[in-house]
Amino acid sequence: MTGTQEKKRVFIKTYGCQMNVYDSDRMADALASDGYEATDKVDDADLVLLNTCHIREKAAEKVYSELGRLRVMKEEAARSGRAVTIGVTGCVAQAEGAEIARRAPVVDLVVGPQSYQHLPQLLRDVAGGKRAVETEFALAEKFERLPAATRERTRARGVTAFLTIQEGCDKFCTFCVVPYTRGAEVSRPVARIVEEAQRLADAGVREVTLLGQNVNAWHGAGTDGREWGLGELLFRLAEIPGLDRLRYTTSHPRDMDDALIAAHRDLPALMPYLHLPVQAGSDRILTAMNRKHKADDYLRLVDRIRATRSDIALSSDFIVGFPGETDEDFEATMRLVETVGYAAAYSFKYSARPGTPAAGRDGHVDERVMSERLQRLQALILDQQTAFNRSRVGTEMDVLFEKAGRRPGQLMGRSPYLQAVLVDGDESRIGTIGRVSITGLGSNSLFGTLAEPVGRTAAISSTVEAIT
Ligand code: SAH
Ligand code: SF4
Ligand code: F3S
Repeated sequence: MTGTQEKKRVFIKTYGCQMNVYDSDRMADALASDGYEATDKVDDADLVLLNTCHIREKAAEKVYSELGRLRVMKEEAARSGRAVTIGVTGCVAQAEGAEIARRAPVVDLVVGPQSYQHLPQLLRDVAGGKRAVETEFALAEKFERLPAATRERTRARGVTAFLTIQEGCDKFCTFCVVPYTRGAEVSRPVARIVEEAQRLADAGVREVTLLGQNVNAWHGAGTDGREWGLGELLFRLAEIPGLDRLRYTTSHPRDMDDALIAAHRDLPALMPYLHLPVQAGSDRILTAMNRKHKADDYLRLVDRIRATRSDIALSSDFIVGFPGETDEDFEATMRLVETVGYAAAYSFKYSARPGTPAAGRDGHVDERVMSERLQRLQALILDQQTAFNRSRVGTEMDVLFEKAGRRPGQLMGRSPYLQAVLVDGDESRIGTIGRVSITGLGSNSLFGTLAEPVGRTAAISSTVEAIT
């Protein structure tokens, strides 16, 4: 016990994917019921949590440099008689728990992603003078034992929200740490997901993005007694009044089933944007990556999806320089990108991760070659992204207004295709969907003018063809 009634402050820094963003909020919720309020100023904090990512070496190393800075801060605070607790959570905590404790004595607390429900107790242990390291796998109970956000906290987070419905991964791509840091796939039960989505909608959230490392592998017992997949779950969530827009990420190509594809045609609330990572375009590399599909399977899948929903915007992740990747393999990736035509995509240099099968493989690709390939790929992706954005100029789209823009009197919203759209408009429109005529193209956003407001229910009426 602290013996004081004064509020304690927590600063949480989030690295990595959306699941960490969601987890950081859930940790803040758990800590709020324990008397902590969130601060965005690290110097004011009594507790600093680094919610970390282990996906690439650079991401993991950032944590240690941040801990160096926090050591100085903690020592300065100690000199003025103030105790600061430093915790590492997330995927680096899971992968390197013991090493963090050894390399960074400044750390009081290490908690893996499956154990956040224990955070308040672990903090009491730390207050009692212990150093706590908790990296048990207990995924099934994690979410169900973390307290929900209050209405006020949800409101303060805005009109869009993440909702994790699935965690962990059983795919074991040979480059990837996720199956080790997040454990085996676990799907949350329908009732809990619906309850959480309902609470979000009641607090004013208009758009929910369902999250999972492999979100389209989600499955569960449906309310009709049948086994549901993500498609059925989306239909159920669309019944919740006020939830105008649904999205999901990230999907594995192998788990895109017919029901989910059909939902993109039949469910107006499901936005026409799909992140469907392929990683590479060469079958030899896809096999070495253990992606469980060939380039052609992916292309045929894209065709099926577009035959169902012609305007869908696609995005992907790519890795260049996987061990053994030749110029020819890389050209196959470029060809695949040209064939698909993406609205957006993320690409990375291969990073050898400890404990993954690919890390020990021969065929290391020279750093310079990797940089050249990355540059070419990113230039192609940028061209496609610009072409996609430009193709919307002159059309009308429904935009969900999320927040004030940078300039006074300006609003920032998102199109169905996840593009940022800036318009002049009153802040009272935040949380509503308005019809916008797209008039111009900026570097990271589209510009538009408000046409007639269409209220809260989005009419999906854009008929622009997807670029090919
Ligand atoms: N579950 C998601 C993505 C997880 S990680 C999926 O299966 O698509 C996000 C992206 O990081 C991956 O899609 C991949 O492109 C990239 N990535 C993962 N491990 C990597 C590594 N070792 N080196 C470089 N990029 C990596
Ligand atoms: Fe990693 Fe592959 Fe699982 Fe995605 S599907 S999280 S890339 S192992
Ligand atoms: Fe990173 Fe863990 Fe997400 S490794 S990408 S934070 S699942």
